[in-house]
Amino acid sequence: MIRKYIFGKPFNTEAIVSEIRTEEGELSYGKICTEKGFSFTYEMEDDDMVYGLGEANRGLNKRGYCYVSDCSDDPNHTEDKRSLYAAHNFIVVSGKENFGLFFDYPSVITFDIGYNRSSLLQVTCDAADLALYVIDGANAYDVVKQFRSIIGRSYIPPKFAFGFGQSRWGYKTREDFRKVAEGYRKNRIPMDMIYMDIDYMEGYKDFTLNEEHFPDFPEFVKEMKEQGIRLVPIIDAGVKVEEGYSVYEEGVKNRYFCQREDGSDFVAAVWPGDTHFPDVLNADARKWFGDNYRVLIDQGIEGFWNDMNEPAIFYSREGMEELKATLWKYVEENTETIPVWQLGDQIQGLANNHEDYKRFYHNVNGEKIRHDKVHNLFGYNMTRAAGEAFERIDPEKRFLMFSRSSYVGMHRYGGIWTGDNKSWWSHILLNLKMMPSLNMCGFLYTGADLGGFGADTTRDLVLRWLALGVFTPLMRNHSAIGTREQECYQFENTEDFRGIIETRYRLVPYLYSEYMKAALNNDMYFKPLAFVYPEDDFAVRVEDQMMIGNEIMIAPVYTQNAKGRYVYLPERMKFVKFSKNGQITEEVLEKGHHYVEIALNEVPVFIREGRCIPVAKAAETVEKLDTKHLELLGFEGAEYMLYEDDGVHKDYGNPENYTVLRK
Ligand code: GLC
Repeated sequence: MIRKYIFGKPFNTEAIVSEIRTEEGELSYGKICTEKGFSFTYEMEDDDMVYGLGEANRGLNKRGYCYVSDCSDDPNHTEDKRSLYAAHNFIVVSGKENFGLFFDYPSVITFDIGYNRSSLLQVTCDAADLALYVIDGANAYDVVKQFRSIIGRSYIPPKFAFGFGQSRWGYKTREDFRKVAEGYRKNRIPMDMIYMDIDYMEGYKDFTLNEEHFPDFPEFVKEMKEQGIRLVPIIDAGVKVEEGYSVYEEGVKNRYFCQREDGSDFVAAVWPGDTHFPDVLNADARKWFGDNYRVLIDQGIEGFWNDMNEPAIFYSREGMEELKATLWKYVEENTETIPVWQLGDQIQGLANNHEDYKRFYHNVNGEKIRHDKVHNLFGYNMTRAAGEAFERIDPEKRFLMFSRSSYVGMHRYGGIWTGDNKSWWSHILLNLKMMPSLNMCGFLYTGADLGGFGADTTRDLVLRWLALGVFTPLMRNHSAIGTREQECYQFENTEDFRGIIETRYRLVPYLYSEYMKAALNNDMYFKPLAFVYPEDDFAVRVEDQMMIGNEIMIAPVYTQNAKGRYVYLPERMKFVKFSKNGQITEEVLEKGHHYVEIALNEVPVFIREGRCIPVAKAAETVEKLDTKHLELLGFEGAEYMLYEDDGVHKDYGNPENYTVLRK
């Protein structure tokens, strides 16, 4: 049962695709107050849990902290942060009463989930202009499935996107890319993709290539493809301001960029220096921006990642002028002591400054809308621009697409990666906890920068993180320029890395099949144990083990120097370890607590009682996997329903895509 309530004049975010009648009258849960802005309050019972919020900090159970949906480019995901890159305003209260709430509101909105008062859930925003969806359900899982059914089907990537990808900010020339390809192929570590970060472009200009470094790009794309490797370029939100650059000139001429109040194009400094933002909330501008992806598609490219689309702003002209004025004041007044810390804050505050978001406007169906009022929709609509363009360019074909910033609704056009994490052990755990929360909000094709983006990594950290990455649909090793190099072949005993990545490829038939079932049935791929074992008081509180699809549970190791870990089995399971040289060990473990040993080069999987999973022989690429000869691991007599398709086209409904396998 889903009810919709309208307050004031909401902006149509197009997050919801189903028609739902608007209710009048009282809410079935909690209280609303619209006297000063908007607030929703609900008294929680001691044992109530709160799920949701997608890409958000801290636990799977969000209770005990305060989270703010305010898409932010912040590379320091410390525990105190309330906002990350996305705004996924869906929560589920689970306990005495089970219900979901989706606050369809495109600007800053705060979720105080027992932070100010432990029993109080309070959701507040400045303007009482929003749509609120209230979903009744039998339990949290049921609520999630209902929510998923009204936001539209999740994005489905091409099958090659289930392979492993290598990325690093700093690869510049063909030689750099060839070195990565060679590093993997020589060490016989499977790989399907190499990502191209901003340095492939000419002066960081979207949809251009540095001609000196890539003299014949189509030929180079072909050369890589012959090795089974796809190049996946980045596209940034800001379009460089530069006379003679066609994207800039067309955008200016057609008024496709976001403008200041006086009608001039707003200038924000990002990687290229001064840029303009394409007004992706304007349907004409969105179409134009999307059509530009064709430039690279025509050269053989089949996937992209969209970045800096919160949109990130290093500084604006206005912000810089204000800073200069402050500095001058100190100089002119000859102040004896300069408050360095204050100045430091002011300089830092230039970036992603909320004041800047009030300085430019969108043109939505002829109406001028100030950016800060719809801030959280930018990344969504940039990715929508690409997704809609792919439909026009090649309607039968699937393209790889994921974005940094997002809002519910964007899950129909692409996946996401979780942005600039660090090479910290705690971020492995954060990665794990975010995945089911993202699934609740529709984002299935997800993953984190494996090995960590910022800070210097270590060999053991990369191995442990990859062992989790084996199960995330997006499996990508990515790192920042200036940090220790972390491609798998940079470390000693590369066979350990080969073993883990080969395990991913061996599991692709299962992982892909479960992904597709989740996408096609508005279901989750990553599930908390609580959703599968709601009656098990211990299982419902477990946050460092997850269910993947319908057959398995994972329990990654996320602590330094550990030789194994404690694990809780909510039922009897088969504990399977993928070890060195492709060896597989199996052991049945009874329901309850166990300590299991897991070496650095092993990937543990727990198969549920009475189930089995298909396993392939490892291959260099997803395309080379032999999915006709699959081994079944698990319990004797079990059956598995395998979903398989060509991985390229969109013939999802074909009954021939399903095969029953029997062990
Ligand atoms: C941003 C992205 C990161 C990328 C960098 C350079 O920080 O999040 O992934 O490497 O920009 O483009």
